[in-house]
Amino acid sequence: MVVYSPHKIILFGEHAVVYGYPALSATVDLFAKIYLIPSRSGLQHTPFVQKALGYLGLSNTYVKVETTVPSGSGLGTSSMIISGILLNGRDYSKENLARDSFNIEYETQGLGSPIDTTTIAAGGFVLTNGNEGMPLWSIEKNGTKWNFSSIPTKNIDLVIVYSGSKGSTKEQVAKIRKFYERGKYAKDIMERIGNITEEGVKWVMKGDLVKVGELMDENHSELKIFGISTDQIEKIVSIGREYGYGAKLTGAGGGGAVVIIPREKEKLVQRLKEMNVLYFDTSTTGAGIFKRSE
Ligand code: MEV
Repeated sequence: MVVYSPHKIILFGEHAVVYGYPALSATVDLFAKIYLIPSRSGLQHTPFVQKALGYLGLSNTYVKVETTVPSGSGLGTSSMIISGILLNGRDYSKENLARDSFNIEYETQGLGSPIDTTTIAAGGFVLTNGNEGMPLWSIEKNGTKWNFSSIPTKNIDLVIVYSGSKGSTKEQVAKIRKFYERGKYAKDIMERIGNITEEGVKWVMKGDLVKVGELMDENHSELKIFGISTDQIEKIVSIGREYGYGAKLTGAGGGGAVVIIPREKEKLVQRLKEMNVLYFDTSTTGAGIFKRSE
């Protein structure tokens, strides 16, 4: 059995979503293949892999992950692997897969929202805590509630660029929590990001990439205030703005990837080649995680 698990981007609202503000995410047409292979004992697994295998009552199992996307790129790798292991071992409804995967992620990370695990399970554009779309499910943890809905819309072309350094979700989320607990300043930023998402989803549904791009730029500027961008992310974002409708860091930041909606794709790709960076010429996809026998 092989599970095809999609990477995801957050178009609007990362970090703010941890506190229950709206966010818009989507699966992208980049899938990892995840296999469970019986193996000798004594394998060393990362804690979340260990936990996911434990959920299935499996030991002596090697988890093989085939993807061209580096881990720590903010594109959902850990959620994809957790969900990939679970779905490989058992049959699941999308909702239960999202719930169990989030629980495992939360138990190992101790923080964060269910946005990645839900997006990967549902597929397509997913709105968290907004008013549009068709309701999917709700997940609650420690007094924060996330209501998810599916946004029916055309796929959007994307160029995703790896900044060359990994970002740690745990570190970045913990850093922003300190800001958040200290006072109103961080809350105001979260609020503005929430408003950007609410406006952004409307333009995504209308297919107005100019407006979507402008709001991505605004969202990036808000995230920068938290100190989670890097020099390399800024370089990529400025090239993205030159040849795209908009560009922003996606995921936790502190490294990781930049998402660009291309306007002049050939020129953009040419510049990225000159910079010698890893990029993915891709698009959003309506598909979520699925499995196949091989
Ligand atoms: C990570 O993809 C998105 C963050 O908002 C963290 C989370 O929601 O768990 C940074």
